[in-house]
Amino acid sequence: MRLLVTGGAGFIGANFVHSTLARRPGTSITVLDALTYAGSRESLADVVGQIRLVQGDVTDAPLVGELVAELNPERDAVVHFAAETHVDNSLADPEPFLRSNVIGTYTVLEAVRARQVRLHHVSTDEVYGELALDDPQRFTETTPYSPSSPYSSTKAAADLLVRSWVRSYGVRATISNCSNNYGPYQHVEKFIPRQITNLLTGRRAKLYGSGANVRDWIHVDDHNSAVWQIMAGGQLGRTYLIGAEGERDNRTVLRTILRLMDFDPDDFDHVADRPGHDLRYAIDPSALRDELGWQPEHHDFEAGLRATIDWYRTHESWWAPLKDAAEARYAELGR
Ligand code: NAD
Ligand code: TYD
Repeated sequence: MRLLVTGGAGFIGANFVHSTLARRPGTSITVLDALTYAGSRESLADVVGQIRLVQGDVTDAPLVGELVAELNPERDAVVHFAAETHVDNSLADPEPFLRSNVIGTYTVLEAVRARQVRLHHVSTDEVYGELALDDPQRFTETTPYSPSSPYSSTKAAADLLVRSWVRSYGVRATISNCSNNYGPYQHVEKFIPRQITNLLTGRRAKLYGSGANVRDWIHVDDHNSAVWQIMAGGQLGRTYLIGAEGERDNRTVLRTILRLMDFDPDDFDHVADRPGHDLRYAIDPSALRDELGWQPEHHDFEAGLRATIDWYRTHESWWAPLKDAAEARYAELGR
């Protein structure tokens, strides 16, 4: 089987490439990635001889068309991870989010439509907006879209394009909306790696607002095993929600990181809150579990966090070149 993986040099895409090569030998992979500030050749360095990495933009229709034309519609697929992904960046400058997330997905859709190639579109639970802390109802595939940020609204737009290309043009696609991921190769602008690398570089950990905001954490390998399950057995045209029953508030996660790294759990800074900050995300993963039999493998969040901390400790050369620029951006935002 041949896969075209867009955004395969980013956090989740690079982990997808690694786990696919390890668990499904014989899969031939082309990565299409613009290598923006968030993508890195280094994330694929240890598999560079086993894949093809094409540096290019998902909005480049001739290039995307050429790469999709190499695929066999009977058995191959496009897995579309490429996107601008950081909420704080989207608030500061929405334009690249519209381009990569909306026009990029449109470009991928037109290419798979022309060649009748199977598509899996990777999206986020942030399209559903926020839940109250005490809401007993979690997100399901029928929850109305209610995105809050330029990031989540452009992802929502992309999802809706996929749904309409399925219905109007018969494109063979599935969509997944996953909760917050953690694990190796995540950019140091994101919450968990930012705190770990702040502590490793003598900076202080930073909590937005009161830290009462809840995220539903899933290990990146569990996200990717669910993507594979959906590609193998998912119903065309369907949306699947991916989550691992991992709800935790930010303050608790931050205190756990501090404790695991031998710091005083209360030794962090409260910084200005993010405008429009969603209070809570939570996924009801029962459809994926009941219909496709998917189960996460990482049940112990603290063990996963410890392994992630170890990874950042031992991979300083991967993240150190990104760190000062990421913190300079936060300094401008006062966070
Ligand atoms: P990331 O920011 O780490 O990586 C994104 C990758 O896409 C980078 O390699 C970047 O170079 C590439 N890219 C960006 N714009 C591009 C363009 N125009 N053309 C080609 N490549 C481009 O993001 P991530 O966390 O790995 O997220 C991957 C996907 O998963 C995204 O679609 C995101 O919305 C979704 N998602 C992420 C999470 C999460 O917690 N990180 C959760 C659910 C869903
Ligand atoms: P983030 O990793 O940006 O993911 P998202 O906003 O897409 O869920 O942030 C996760 C949570 O952590 C979010 O509620 C914002 C918060 N946060 C902090 O408290 N401090 C930080 O330094 C960062 C980057 C995020």
